[in-house]
Amino acid sequence: MVGTQWGDEGKGKVTDYLAREADVVVRYQGGPNAGHTVVVDGEEFRLHLVPSGILYPGKLCVVGNGVVVDPEVLVGEIEYLQSRGRDVSGLRVSARAHLVMPYHRILDALQEQALGERRIGTTLRGVGPAYMDKAARVGLRVGDLLEPASFRTRLEHNLADKNRFLQHVYGAEPLRLEDVLESYLAWGEKLRVFVAETSPLINRAIAAGQKVLFEGAQGTLLDLDHGTYPYVTSSHPVAGGACIGAGVGPTRIDRVIGVVKAYTSRVGDGPFPTELHGEEGDLVRERGHEYGTTTGRPRRVGWLDAVMVRYAALLSGLDGIAITRLDVLAGLPRVKVAVAYRYRGGEIEDFPSSLSVLQECEPVYEELPGWPEPPETPGSLADLHPHARRYVEFVQEATGLPVVLISIGRERGQTISLAPVFEPRPPAR
Ligand code: IMP
Repeated sequence: MVGTQWGDEGKGKVTDYLAREADVVVRYQGGPNAGHTVVVDGEEFRLHLVPSGILYPGKLCVVGNGVVVDPEVLVGEIEYLQSRGRDVSGLRVSARAHLVMPYHRILDALQEQALGERRIGTTLRGVGPAYMDKAARVGLRVGDLLEPASFRTRLEHNLADKNRFLQHVYGAEPLRLEDVLESYLAWGEKLRVFVAETSPLINRAIAAGQKVLFEGAQGTLLDLDHGTYPYVTSSHPVAGGACIGAGVGPTRIDRVIGVVKAYTSRVGDGPFPTELHGEEGDLVRERGHEYGTTTGRPRRVGWLDAVMVRYAALLSGLDGIAITRLDVLAGLPRVKVAVAYRYRGGEIEDFPSSLSVLQECEPVYEELPGWPEPPETPGSLADLHPHARRYVEFVQEATGLPVVLISIGRERGQTISLAPVFEPRPPAR
């Protein structure tokens, strides 16, 4: 399950809904930059690292090797769930997952500051710098926490380097080895029981016929390769990311579902063709409570962009989509969907790689009539207002993808299921 926009599509809710049927739920990329809000029986849970599947007792929930783990955040989340009476015994964390270190958070902030006007608008959780160290082959991993002697040596090495950089490039304070060491080893001890070789674990589950749900974080347009670079995150939210970030072969994945919010939102900077300014935008932002789960920042909002969703479909080989937050648009007199981009007099077919081209793209809109508030818990599609149904049909036509699920609220019951998701792949499409 992947996000088809810029993140915040409501993946937490969809994961929670689909997790009911799954035996295993796996996070494969991203880190504490992600934020999932899940509501169970009126109780709200905000999670950053632990897969949302944890809210079903006993379910195996894996933090895969492709995730960057801030142990302080992870330990905090485990304790938060336990304090609310939740069972976390099904949690497993890959020994291969890289750690977010204190210098990553500091460098994230300093790099953003240095960029000034050109800043990316990161969540400042140290995620980019942690992936930089992973690629530079100097990263520390979750498994290292369990080997204190070598952890100390490698940290000492890294700190010497990072401190030089902090002091001489940025004029910042150096970090003390003993401080970092003490807190990280303490968190390591708390995590010890959860650390595992997760790829074999997942592959064994698949071989045994269990249902495994890979839960993407962020969204397609934030993908390091395919997103609106450089205004992206440093990992791969597209479906292919699941293979690398969880250690499973592409032949093991049966279906890919894209989560499409009924409108678009974006936190952070970068071009946004269908962005809404003024009253309509404020209304959608307020109705949708579009403020970051991780940072509290107001999100930029805009109309649904079918060009973008079609691009996401291509990149992840989507089989179907889940439409979320249809309720947020209720009450508007009319709604719009971008179906194409106009660029310098012509129409652009493919989502452009150049940001200056994207900046100049003008969305070609299709306008549809609005609809009133949906019933609290609709049983089926027929319970929705005809105009809301028309919108769903239109999204289906404009994206060329079947809608498998519609979400009209935060509760589990506020979901309409239209097609089974855990099915073997249908023969050649
Ligand atoms: P980073 O992932 O913190 O480095 O931030 C890079 C970009 O990704 C920024 O535009 C962030 O706002 C965005 N981003 C990261 N995580 C999320 C998320 O979970 N939802 C939405 N945007 C995100």
